Amino acid sequence: MAQTVEIIDVTKVNETVKAAVERTTQWSGKVQPYAKDIVEHYNEEAESYEEMYLTMGYHDHEKVNEIACELIPDQATREVIEVLDMGCGTGLGGDQLFKVGGFKNIFGVDASVEMMAKAKAKESYKQTIELWLGKPETFPKYLRNRFQLVVCCGVLVEGHCDKKLFDEMIMAAKGRGTIIIFSTRDHYLRDYGYQKRMDELEANGTWKLAKSLLTHKYDKLGDQNLGRFKKTEIITIKSRGKMAQTVEIIDVTKVNEIVKAAVERTSQWSGKVEPYAKDIVEHYNAEAESYEEMYLTIGYHDHE
Ligand SMILES: C[S@@+](CC[C@H](N)C(=O)[O-])C[C@H]1O[C@@H](n2cnc3c(N)ncnc32)[C@H](O)[C@@H]1O
Repeated sequence: MAQTVEIIDVTKVNETVKAAVERTTQWSGKVQPYAKDIVEHYNEEAESYEEMYLTMGYHDHEKVNEIACELIPDQATREVIEVLDMGCGTGLGGDQLFKVGGFKNIFGVDASVEMMAKAKAKESYKQTIELWLGKPETFPKYLRNRFQLVVCCGVLVEGHCDKKLFDEMIMAAKGRGTIIIFSTRDHYLRDYGYQKRMDELEANGTWKLAKSLLTHKYDKLGDQNLGRFKKTEIITIKSRGKMAQTVEIIDVTKVNEIVKAAVERTSQWSGKVEPYAKDIVEHYNAEAESYEEMYLTIGYHDHE
């Protein structure tokens, strides 16, 4: 259905779209140069954002929801899992997932409070959180290792976020089978190094490609170009399944002797931050031989 659309005539395009086209042409060809202005830009654009994008035929949110439903077909699962919408903006994505997809626990993060005010008003999000993305070192702990569906539309964009956003998607993802879906223009994959990073994460077993969809970015633009907005530019929507946490769960009754001894030794530390500081060197000196076997047996993977 999504592609059966009326093509708009650019000579009649509304003033809002024209103004936005002018404003954003300054971003062309740069991955993150307007970072400091981006919040200001979206705060100003919040009021007109949806009219403008939907006029041009923006449909990332619909496509993402379709893929999410295909990959998570069970309705009961959709109702219970937690979903993170990264760069949720005015909430087009969350609204679609909530109303059409039947996902019920959606959290939105974005740097622009004005955009998020629109998202909040839709009442499709459980919570909206002001957050600057693209800095994995500041990604909040309470959002880590938590979400079984992570979506991100229109944020892997020139002038917005660089490839570090992938690291945050993975941080947010919870365990085996988590689905990560994001959209970006096809040529950004190469121009901004997104593809290279995606390939690295695939090669090291962090995620694997679940589905890839190529579609027009702005359906209603016909073959006309509006500044940086072009129908003919292909958007690619990738969904990835997180693999890093795909580990065999060990049975504690079968835990090996080394682990058992370490469990006993270290249980004395419980609830105290530094009481055994004086013994700690002695402890680790004694444990050096068995350290790796023990930790790797119970699935330690901070280093990965
Ligand atoms: C093109 S809009 C996309 C909004 C929404 N996902 C959609 O599909 O309609 C980009 C959004 O990303 C947000 N954004 C851009 N860079 C960001 C950053 N570094 N951290 C957090 N949000 C950012 C903007 O505030 C804006 O709401």
